[in-house]
Amino acid sequence: TSVQAQAASGFKFKPIDIATDYLIQVPEGFKWKAVARWGDPLFSDAADSYSPEGGVSVDVSDKVFGENTDGMELFEIDGRQIIAVNSEYVNPKINLPEASDSKPQSAAEAQLLKNLQGVTVMEVADKGDGYEVVVDSPYNRRITNDTPMTMDGPVAGTDLVRTDADPEGRSPLGTLNNCGSGRTLWGTYLTCEENFNGYFGMVTEREQTQGEKRYGIKGESNYLYEKYDERFDVSTNPNEPNRFGWIVEIDPSDPKSVPVKHTALGRFKHENAAMVHASDGHVVVYLGDDERGEFIYRYVSNASWAEGQPTDGLLADGTLYVAKFNDDMSGEWLALTPETTGMSLPELLTFARMAGSKVGGTTMDRPEWIATHPHRAEAYCALTNNSKRGDEKMPVNAANPRPTNEYGQIVRWRPDGDNHSADTFTWDLYVMAGNPTVHEDAYAGSVNINAGNMFNSPDGMMFDSEGMLWIQTDGDDSNEGDFAGQGNNQMLVGNPDTGQIARFLTGPKGSEVTGLCWSSDRKVAFVGIQHPGGSWPDGHGKPRSSVIAVWREDGATVG
Ligand code: FEO
Ligand code: CA
Ligand code: CA
Ligand code: CA
Repeated sequence: TSVQAQAASGFKFKPIDIATDYLIQVPEGFKWKAVARWGDPLFSDAADSYSPEGGVSVDVSDKVFGENTDGMELFEIDGRQIIAVNSEYVNPKINLPEASDSKPQSAAEAQLLKNLQGVTVMEVADKGDGYEVVVDSPYNRRITNDTPMTMDGPVAGTDLVRTDADPEGRSPLGTLNNCGSGRTLWGTYLTCEENFNGYFGMVTEREQTQGEKRYGIKGESNYLYEKYDERFDVSTNPNEPNRFGWIVEIDPSDPKSVPVKHTALGRFKHENAAMVHASDGHVVVYLGDDERGEFIYRYVSNASWAEGQPTDGLLADGTLYVAKFNDDMSGEWLALTPETTGMSLPELLTFARMAGSKVGGTTMDRPEWIATHPHRAEAYCALTNNSKRGDEKMPVNAANPRPTNEYGQIVRWRPDGDNHSADTFTWDLYVMAGNPTVHEDAYAGSVNINAGNMFNSPDGMMFDSEGMLWIQTDGDDSNEGDFAGQGNNQMLVGNPDTGQIARFLTGPKGSEVTGLCWSSDRKVAFVGIQHPGGSWPDGHGKPRSSVIAVWREDGATVG
């Protein structure tokens, strides 16, 4: 009956049950198809890029859709639909020969891994039954771990980011671990560098600096890049990691444009970037740092802006803040400045975590995506889980109230005066995920969680044009123990006014669902399926991370 009640309460679909299969499930009356799979060609000279046995061959690996799709945005440019989409990381096991033991054995194998990550810009078109990639579109582009970039803002050109290869400190190469996304008010793409630390190693071991410790730069990288490309060897290039962990702006309308790393927005393990135009004209960007006990940040441009005015400098000149969530449900943004932190401006941006600790930001349960409501001044952040909450160094607080938090929660705040640049806000919890079939205490979840809609580890989050909150999960899909009855990772829709939440889609076992955008006419939702299990979606061979299209058979809009 809860399913019927939800269908009657404003959701435009009949909520679905959990699934434990290696398939996609969508509600009655909906269809789906894969639009872009790992290894699919963007250009016709990479037409035979992928084989079910061997994966992608290195010579065309920068001309195909990358692996492990994540955040994405759709832009309408000259009447065409262009998706910019991240490839967060690679699974060496399915990309490298079995004999390699999941570590590259040559520079070519390392290059393959570098090419399959970063960002894909691709035109998509409606070919009747779902969308397809427009192969050879002039907008198609791959941005990889090696693509030339520039930097702006207070850190660009300083000693912190100068290297032997780039003595000016303004021309970094590549973008790393592109997780969530964002879009600017002026129609460009923001890609967010998350676990960049995992790409660096020390060929000659030495003691870590304080900064390396706080950001997790250690002895050996995930992909042995340091063995084949000296710039990833921190023992010879100690500043190279300082050139990653930023928000990067990409112009999807110009495939020759040089991506820009905006250092004014701070360096940490960025999840996504939620840009909003404050009522007083300032450009505000909300940013989460996805690590246990790290902070939620806000950037406010110094200049105010109005549509049609030049946008230069709006993301280069501003103030970075960390959030403090008080137990009385009030909150404040604490400015990170030389005065408040005792650090220089370039230092406090490069080591924003350390600056945030100095001013007393609230340690959070792994801030993942932030989404801002399209019709009112309100922002939501998915706090995915935190196995260490309640430890001595990370006591519970009102916004992160459960020790050993394995289910996660979504916190939301409303800026005072409905102005996103105000320094104070009020907050509450939209939902505490949990399992009411296993627990009766706080771990059962909040009142809007029931046996029919439960989930764990909220992660991706976007509002649709009607003000409904789409929630994607990246959690435990064992369907056992504390997670019994929760099934595979999934995508749900939340009504922020009533609190109700209904399940819309389930991913194949092993996958997380991450990344969501809509076609220009809002009739198709593009959804990202990352690290699927089995042989999804082909039904044979390797599992392939993919962007799928989901639409209604009756042709109505889906958000
Ligand atoms: Fe890449 Fe925090 O998810
Ligand atoms: Ca995520
Ligand atoms: Ca996650
Ligand atoms: Ca992921």
